[in-house]
Amino acid sequence: MESANDELLQKEAELNNLRLRLKVLERVTEVAANIEDMKRVLSQLLDLAVEITSSEAGSILLRHGDYITIEAAEGPKANLLTDLKLPLGSGIAGWVAKTGVSLLSNNVKKDEHWDSRIAEAIQYETKNILCLPIKSGIEVLGVLELINKRNNKDFVQDDLDISLIFTSFLAQTLENSRLLREMNDRIKELSILIETSTLIGSTLDLKQLLHIIMDKLKEVMRAEASSIFQIDEVTNELFFLVATGEKGQEAKEIRVPWGKGIVGWTAEKGEILNVPDVTKDKRFFIGVDEKTKWKTRSILAVPLKIKGKIIGVAEVLNKIGDESFDERDEKIFEAIGKQAAIAIDNARLYTDLSELFKSSIRALVNAVEAKDKYTRGHTERVTEYSVIIAKELGLLPAEIERIELSGLLHDIGKIGIPDRILLKPGKLTNEEFEVVKEHPVRAVKMLKPIKQLSTVFDGIQYHHEKLDGTGYPEGLKGDTIPLVARIITIGDAFDAMTTDRPYRDALAKEEAIRRLKQDSHTQFDPELVEVFLKCLEKVAL
Ligand SMILES: [Fe+2]
Ligand SMILES: [Fe+2]
Repeated sequence: MESANDELLQKEAELNNLRLRLKVLERVTEVAANIEDMKRVLSQLLDLAVEITSSEAGSILLRHGDYITIEAAEGPKANLLTDLKLPLGSGIAGWVAKTGVSLLSNNVKKDEHWDSRIAEAIQYETKNILCLPIKSGIEVLGVLELINKRNNKDFVQDDLDISLIFTSFLAQTLENSRLLREMNDRIKELSILIETSTLIGSTLDLKQLLHIIMDKLKEVMRAEASSIFQIDEVTNELFFLVATGEKGQEAKEIRVPWGKGIVGWTAEKGEILNVPDVTKDKRFFIGVDEKTKWKTRSILAVPLKIKGKIIGVAEVLNKIGDESFDERDEKIFEAIGKQAAIAIDNARLYTDLSELFKSSIRALVNAVEAKDKYTRGHTERVTEYSVIIAKELGLLPAEIERIELSGLLHDIGKIGIPDRILLKPGKLTNEEFEVVKEHPVRAVKMLKPIKQLSTVFDGIQYHHEKLDGTGYPEGLKGDTIPLVARIITIGDAFDAMTTDRPYRDALAKEEAIRRLKQDSHTQFDPELVEVFLKCLEKVAL
């Protein structure tokens, strides 16, 4: 009878134990499902483990290279333990993390691995400890430590068994979160690659384009800063084309001699270079850090090549966290580097072409102006004034370029006006003036076949319109006159007033300014006049 009763009690205990395990499993599964917020999952799992094993305190430490750090802590002195970092192998937790073997000690002071320093520092009496590794395969990801069984009891095998449920869940959760992070990284990498190639085909200004790319790259590669150097072929130096990050602005002024530093080495050798710790690399050039008061730790540099020729170097600096740039970073950086090189080369080709185009136009305009000593240089000056206003207005580069071309061509229609009128030393008759007034429309007619110039017709055609509608050729009023024409009008009038004409001498600058102000609202856009006068003060033209 006695033994049957015993057996029954034994079975009941087993059943209870099983129930408890099931409950633990249920709650752990619930908590671990939310891997987006890893910190919270860890602290909730730790809470449960402390509760189920009737411990007083506990912590979860994760391994980062040669260290373990406390990621969650529970118990009376838990708040003193945040950000604690221990060397691998040190103390009981360190030993478990290093060996991957569980440890149960009901008298820690006697344990050979016990290190009393932390307990003393936080003044917490530790009697017994249950410490288990969190393992994924043979890799130790961290440890779960449970401290001081309540009511002065000892930890027993059952506590160890139940805690194994936690560590296996912790391992799985950490692994899942790592996979999730990796997946997110992949998605980000892919999207930046796609975005980069789309951006490169866009009409963005080169610097702006590279800035966007390098900013995104900084984020994807988890770097503190990124930059692109271009090679100055005349001085053989490398200079910053783009620099993002905290000290980006300061860095832009700096030039690095050829062959010097990580960037110089990369440019010279044409090879990717990954330096996890710059203090251990002799090639590192401290000059840039000294000037910018920036502290470089790690660098990943790739050469930018076009048809085998090095045109620059791209860099990412200081991987965030304890890691350094890895092989995956190298691959994505090389891919982006190729795209950036294409963008730089495209921009260079475009600039060369547009310079060639503009110098051809200049040559043409100069040939026209050459025959009239009074108007010589007029076009260049009007263009200069117009561009200054456009820049001050903060217009986009493409818009500024459009204004520059419009300025250069604004009087090209005078080609068709007979010299006897154009070069007449005295005042023009009404009929003659009517002929002169045809020059804006003549210009547009002349340039019409050149499709690439269609964007500059507005500025040319309407540069003699006046705000009050008394101008020509159409008598447009106010805002209906295109902005570019309203800008050119001001430069045109100012230059006409401040240079000699056949029928009068040049006016003094002050007088010209007075007239610009006086004719604001009737002839000129008052806001633009103000902008122009502000520029005049600044550059003292
Ligand atoms: Fe004109
Ligand atoms: Fe003009």
